[in-house]
Amino acid sequence: MLSVSPYLKHFDPTSAQIEGAVWIERRLSQLRGCFADPKAYDTALEHDDPLVYSVSSFEPATNNGDLHIGLGKIMPGRVGSEYFLTRGHLHAWREASEIYIGLSGEGLMLLETEGGEARSIPLTANSIVYVPGHTAHRTVNVGSSPLTYLGVYPAQAGHDYAAIANNNFRQVVIELGGQAVVMNRQAWLESHPAR
Ligand SMILES: [Fe+2]
Repeated sequence: MLSVSPYLKHFDPTSAQIEGAVWIERRLSQLRGCFADPKAYDTALEHDDPLVYSVSSFEPATNNGDLHIGLGKIMPGRVGSEYFLTRGHLHAWREASEIYIGLSGEGLMLLETEGGEARSIPLTANSIVYVPGHTAHRTVNVGSSPLTYLGVYPAQAGHDYAAIANNNFRQVVIELGGQAVVMNRQAWLESHPAR
């Protein structure tokens, strides 16, 4: 009789942990260079080093055709006026696509092709976002509660953080008058010359 355990995993939607899975945490101090306003970043770090996001990864096998699953949780918060976010990445295997399934909270995904075409897509409970290959993706919590989601991707996808680290994403998500506003990064930086 087959054991059910390789085929069934439970997860805790509150802690966003998958049973027996690898767990990583990213605190603010580990996200230098991700936020648009370095002064606000340093100021925030002087006060605290909060947990920004965590990912619980279930990776049952790594052969061609296998899938990996990540359960992400981004805390509510901002650095200056910019909402908490993930580092974002391209897949090392550029052709690899991914599906994000929103579980709770209110978020946005920033998608950016290698050709520089940028867009933002809502990620909320009961929504599915398809991320095609050759597309950098970052998740942003624009709500007042944790944003949780599942990401399902080919086991061979890999994560390439360096490719976007130099120029960062072209869009930023800013709180303006109580609303989340997506702006071009350069335009936002130019509107804040003091930084
Ligand atoms: Fe991914």
